[in-house]
Amino acid sequence: MALSEKVKRFVEEGGWIRRMFEAGITLKQQYGEDKVFDLSLGNPVVEPPPQFKEELRRLAQSPAKGMHRYMPNAGYAETREAVAAGIRAETGIPFTRGDIVMTAGAAAGLNVTLKTILDPGDEVIFFAPYFVEYTYYTDNQGGVPIVAPTGEGFQPDLGALEGLITPRTRALLINSPNNPSGAVYSAETLGALGTLLRRKSQEQGREIFLISDEPYRRIIYDGLTYPQVFPHYEASIVVHSHAKDLALPGERIGYMAVNPAYEARAELVDGLTFCNRILGIVNAPALMQHVVRALQGISVDVAEYQRKRDFMHGRLTELGYSCFKPQGAFYLFPAAPGGDDLAFVDELQRYNVLTVPGRGFGSEGYFRISYCVEDRVLEGSLDGFREAARGLRL
Ligand SMILES: Cc1ncc(COP(=O)(O)O)c(C=O)c1O
Repeated sequence: MALSEKVKRFVEEGGWIRRMFEAGITLKQQYGEDKVFDLSLGNPVVEPPPQFKEELRRLAQSPAKGMHRYMPNAGYAETREAVAAGIRAETGIPFTRGDIVMTAGAAAGLNVTLKTILDPGDEVIFFAPYFVEYTYYTDNQGGVPIVAPTGEGFQPDLGALEGLITPRTRALLINSPNNPSGAVYSAETLGALGTLLRRKSQEQGREIFLISDEPYRRIIYDGLTYPQVFPHYEASIVVHSHAKDLALPGERIGYMAVNPAYEARAELVDGLTFCNRILGIVNAPALMQHVVRALQGISVDVAEYQRKRDFMHGRLTELGYSCFKPQGAFYLFPAAPGGDDLAFVDELQRYNVLTVPGRGFGSEGYFRISYCVEDRVLEGSLDGFREAARGLRL
């Protein structure tokens, strides 16, 4: 047997997105590419903003000597400074490059953060529905995942959260805009989370960190201003990625930003830098660090995503689906008609429409649609949604 018992179990439990992806390949071979409507992957079809290619061309034409060498593990000073300047402008908080560690996307940032702060058996709480990898990242770094419920509009249930905090709680991991629900946490919610975590940390005599996973921070709709976590809680770490805002998921570039108001900030940043190295990431990709230095504050066209959200949310609602209207990210998370998410996702698959069951995100009874795809895929999926719903007499 090649796999450990644990990994075998993880592969079996956690492979929903991959399973749908594989089903898509089979269906495409069987029926043809244009007859299959794959809404299962969060892999944006939009191209990076034009400035990305301009910067890449400029660097290729006039390369700086040594630009592909090893560097300090936290990243280039100039890139960290550019990121700090961007966050200063966004938050009004005096970030410096000493608060920033560049890393290989949000996935690496989260693993590095957890590695840095967890002792074996420490608990990490996150709200369902959640990005499924959180469970594995927590386990990777010796932690124990604890799932908390959300309430109305997929907002955190603070009463339930308080009941789940124990002396072993080391971090609360939040994700807003949320994958898969599209919910954005309000400043009031963040304020209440901060107050609760501060009180519990004091009671326990040890910090409970707030880790905010923000790959979708710039993909928000209806003119909303993004509510920042930093003003609400000192021991906070933001993990960001340019996978979605610059449409660079394959390039593996992002950063961790530590709240300047956190008193042990320098020690924490040293720990993050060390763990970035020993987890084998070593440093964020050099070329991408050179490129994104010039692109802080630039994003893909969010209006495009908002148009797709309005289209899909509008059509599904007309068909009788019950679906929260997302405030950000590029997913819809409707209730599964009939209540059984697995059965409904299978039913949709009969019409060549691929989605992911909510149990893959810790929330049975829902399913996820990823609408960061071409319009023809969204339009083509509607017949399947109509037929599947009719089968259940919506
Ligand atoms: C909520 C969330 N966190 C983290 C990640 C990982 O992002 P990255 O590709 O930057 O590692 C994703 C990717 O889809 C995500 O949706």
